Amino acid sequence: MSSKMKFVRSLLKTAALANVPKHIDYFSKFSPSPLSMKQFLDFGSTNACERTSFAFLRQELPVRLSNIMKEINLLPDQLRATPSVQLVQSWYIQSLMEILEFLDKSPDDQGVLETFVDVLEAIRDRHNEVVPTMAQGVIEYKDTFGQQDAVTDHNIQYFLDRFYTSRISIRMLINQHTLVFYGHTNPAHPNSIGCIDSMCDVTEVVRDAYESAKMLCEQYYLGAPELELRQMNANNVKERIYISYIPSHLYHMLFELFKNAMRATIENHEASRTLPPIKVMVSLGKEDLSITMSDRGGGVPFRKIERLFSYMYSTAPRPTFGEKHRAPLAGFGYGLPISRLYARYFQGDLQLYSMEGFGTDAVIHLKALSTDSVERLPVFNKTALRHYKLSLEADDWCIPSREPLNLAIYRASK
Ligand SMILES: Nc1ncnc2c1ncn2[C@@H]1O[C@H](COP(=O)(O)OP(=O)(O)OP(=O)(O)O)[C@@H](O)[C@H]1O
Ligand SMILES: [Mg+2]
Repeated sequence: MSSKMKFVRSLLKTAALANVPKHIDYFSKFSPSPLSMKQFLDFGSTNACERTSFAFLRQELPVRLSNIMKEINLLPDQLRATPSVQLVQSWYIQSLMEILEFLDKSPDDQGVLETFVDVLEAIRDRHNEVVPTMAQGVIEYKDTFGQQDAVTDHNIQYFLDRFYTSRISIRMLINQHTLVFYGHTNPAHPNSIGCIDSMCDVTEVVRDAYESAKMLCEQYYLGAPELELRQMNANNVKERIYISYIPSHLYHMLFELFKNAMRATIENHEASRTLPPIKVMVSLGKEDLSITMSDRGGGVPFRKIERLFSYMYSTAPRPTFGEKHRAPLAGFGYGLPISRLYARYFQGDLQLYSMEGFGTDAVIHLKALSTDSVERLPVFNKTALRHYKLSLEADDWCIPSREPLNLAIYRASK
């Protein structure tokens, strides 16, 4: 390329970047459109139309990206200014601009649909490292500015929950498009449509996740607790349990829960020669599919449970980038919070019930019906804005004093 061409290109690029805030403002005024699992399945199976998908995504992806980019701008200045958050922000801007290129293109023109898929794949790859990079940003911020007040912690937690949910949803849309129109059908999973399996065999995923966690655990601790797996299909007692779900999401949640349960079990039984098993119960009702994982890892005090879902807190030694030999069973402390987001993404939930001194039950609730599994998406509006504007106010519940109240002084003054 001649130097003149290069100069013109860089001018165009600068001009385009200057328009970024305008684009974000425009697209963030639209609410994202949540899709149900059933819609994803119907869309992918019967006369799947790539042009319709293209038309939907070139509007919906900028909407989802812009809605969350508005919230990045509301983060505390010192956090937003960290190199890691700046890097993440630049990825979002670049991806937004790349999709906007397709707004005035016709899917009927030669090569447009193919280029669109290439761009989607490039975006997915670009955003691969968003979670650890963002985590690094939070660490840089904590290291530089120390312990934050409760309101800042709350804001960061609120933001990251929404930011990572948005990311999960954007990847879901990209994966469906690339897999439905350009993927190969996997003979092992004939009921899969994109990354959704309309006959996801839940206990099989439980076993897969257990085996992977067990392998890691054995490498690190030279042993692992056994698995005891039971199931109850209330709709048909003799049948296996199948739901429409994304096996990789379910696997992710279970793998994280198994790693935690194994680590707790082993660390709590260092002195004894036998390890109590991890018990998993899967049950399918009319509305819910529930999975309970019970360990005897000594539990966690009730006061600390909510903290385990915080991005600002982990008991594991902090991993550093590029470190090869880190503890494989615990990392950034993102296992639980991100798993809960996966569960909530399709209207489910993940909760921990612990008995300190004994063990923990982790429960995943998912929707049994594909019509009930609808994407749960953040939208940037006045209510969201209000969350970031919360200030430090006095609590409306009394704070108990450490010293017991001396009632004698009241009696004496009468
Ligand atoms: N089943 C459990 N029994 C006892 N403590 C638990 C259990 N599950 C989680 N915890 C506690 O909660 C903390 C947070 O768990 P989480 O999975 O979110 O992060 P982590 O395991 O520290 O790191 P990673 O990101 O690798 O998962 C753990 O460090 C551990 O102290
Ligand atoms: Mg963990």
